[in-house]
Amino acid sequence: MGKTLTIVDHPLIQHKLTILRNKQTPTAHFRQVLREIAFVLGCEATKDLALGEIDIDTPLEAISAPYLEGKKLCFVSILRAGNGLVEGLLDLIPSARVGHVGVYRDHETLEAIKYYYKTPDKLDERQVIMVDPMLATGNTAIAAASELKQAGAMQMKFLCLVAAPEGVEKFSEAHPDVPIITAALDRELNDKGYILPGLGDAGDRIYGTKG
Ligand code: URA
Repeated sequence: MGKTLTIVDHPLIQHKLTILRNKQTPTAHFRQVLREIAFVLGCEATKDLALGEIDIDTPLEAISAPYLEGKKLCFVSILRAGNGLVEGLLDLIPSARVGHVGVYRDHETLEAIKYYYKTPDKLDERQVIMVDPMLATGNTAIAAASELKQAGAMQMKFLCLVAAPEGVEKFSEAHPDVPIITAALDRELNDKGYILPGLGDAGDRIYGTKG
């Protein structure tokens, strides 16, 4: 499926994903587990952050120790379901900046339509991690990544929870420079653009809405 896809098969992630897939999981529990899984996925997504050195004194001696360097990284939530993942990522890196891109899927055409955009400055100097639980057709993620590149983002990753082969293919073609990190690569899309077996509509599962 190409070099840009990483499937994180850590047992904790797979266990938590099963809870999220289960339609019996109530909204509050879904939200909590999504936050937890985001934390673990965030460790994978940030494993190559640049480190510098800082001189510190331990209680016993002076040492030069590793320290994150460079501008604060930026999580970008693709509204609205991306917000559910961002909560857990901020538990991991509270000082990160957060941007929001609102792109919705037209239910008839499945095309991506932008309705909101707000991101921190100096995107070109930040590691940008774009997040959306579901990579389905890829249209939304492709549009969001294009917006971010237009705003200057140069180092970008896309973090999702469940990906469809169709979406991975299309996204990787449009943005081969943006690695995808996911907890699962599912079987296929249905004719409504939902991922099978998937977990349903992520936004509805997080917020307790319907349709
Ligand atoms: N968006 C969702 O929330 N779920 C899917 O299965 C596909 C797109």
